[in-house]
Amino acid sequence: MNNVFKSREDPILISKIKSSEEVLWINDNKKEFNEILDDLPISYEDVIDAEARLQRFAPYIRKEFPEVRNGIIESPIYEINNMKKRLECDYSRKIKGKLFLKRDDLLPIAGSIKARGGIYEVLKHAEKLAIENSMLSIEDDYSVLSEERYKKFFSNYTVQVGSTGNLALSIGIISAKIGFRVIVHMSQDAKQWKKELLRSKGVEVVEYDGDFSVAIEEGRKRSKEDPNSYFVDDENSKDLFLGYAVGGIRIKQQLSQLNVRVDEDHPLYVYLPCGVGGSPGGITFGLKLVYGDNVHCFFAEPTHSPAMLVALVTGLFDKISVTDFGLDNKTEADGLAVGRASSLATRMMDRVVDGVFTIEDKRLYTFLKASVDEENIYLEPSAFAGFFGPIYFSDIENCCHMCWATGGSLVPTYEKKRDYEKALSLLKSQ
Ligand SMILES: Cc1ncc(COP(=O)(O)O)c(C=O)c1O
Repeated sequence: MNNVFKSREDPILISKIKSSEEVLWINDNKKEFNEILDDLPISYEDVIDAEARLQRFAPYIRKEFPEVRNGIIESPIYEINNMKKRLECDYSRKIKGKLFLKRDDLLPIAGSIKARGGIYEVLKHAEKLAIENSMLSIEDDYSVLSEERYKKFFSNYTVQVGSTGNLALSIGIISAKIGFRVIVHMSQDAKQWKKELLRSKGVEVVEYDGDFSVAIEEGRKRSKEDPNSYFVDDENSKDLFLGYAVGGIRIKQQLSQLNVRVDEDHPLYVYLPCGVGGSPGGITFGLKLVYGDNVHCFFAEPTHSPAMLVALVTGLFDKISVTDFGLDNKTEADGLAVGRASSLATRMMDRVVDGVFTIEDKRLYTFLKASVDEENIYLEPSAFAGFFGPIYFSDIENCCHMCWATGGSLVPTYEKKRDYEKALSLLKSQ
């Protein structure tokens, strides 16, 4: 393929990004994971601590959300062989190795990858407040937090967040359940149904004409004005990142239950849709902690919103936006409509992520139609960004491919239908 680049210095790479063409960039700054682990601002111990906290909350989650039977918010992994055959046929190439789908679209409570970080951070905040006020100790059975006296206590505090949609759903739903007052600041890309769902749960939704950067900036400002308000900061939060990282380390047990070996001779290739970079960054960090350099993680971004790609190839991290590259940050992939990547995620990923590729909106819809037709699996358009990965790496021997399905189960039926019809009309017009 003539759109694969191995150096950030390549002027053709930069010109293709600027003209919103699809590219795959292999990270030329990547180092051996164990060599740089100690230099990173987050450690393995931090991730283990986060996993232990989620275990402490399991009795509470089970009580408040009985559909989460063991109280652990996790999603299954499916092999998608029909989709694999379809990709092979459409792209006239054999994909060596199995193709799996990580179904974060089915994550309970908030139906997207953002549930991992968002719910974790809100639970951690609630735990801290309750412990500081001598209402809880870590030895307690956390199901007590469902009692009215706790809800009354938490109602003195506010949680705020800026979001393109799915983070707001996860923060909004869990915060309202705990008893916090909750305000979400939504960018113009956020879908109407997400706003309505949040309002129906008692969440205050503030809408902005601008993009994600505007929503997050306004949210941060408003939160600062209130000493009892806590802002979940998608551009900087270590706790969000840790919530995602737990999802990465749990993969090892899931794959071994499916008899999938991952070692030097059997690499795992993972393709993750990327917005600010927190969720794919956290998952990648967790995966590298358990598999080291035997896992290869690639981020997938819309050609009009390649925030992480621009951040890493320029080395300017969060100091540059896609608009500085002349791009408009307009995409149907609402969860990925981000112009500027997270400061924390870029620093964490600079020497860790294996590469980034971009994808046109039209191709997202082609994948959407194929997934519905072949596997009867609907995902939101953003969640299809990674499906181009198995094509790029089809030749890797003894390999397993995993596309990360980042959202979809809460999407109303009329929206699903609309997306499918859009896919049909795009294909017809080709
Ligand atoms: C469906 C979906 N996929 C992927 C992402 C990307 O996550 P992040 O912004 O943490 O990179 C989002 C973000 O909201 C999303 O909603």
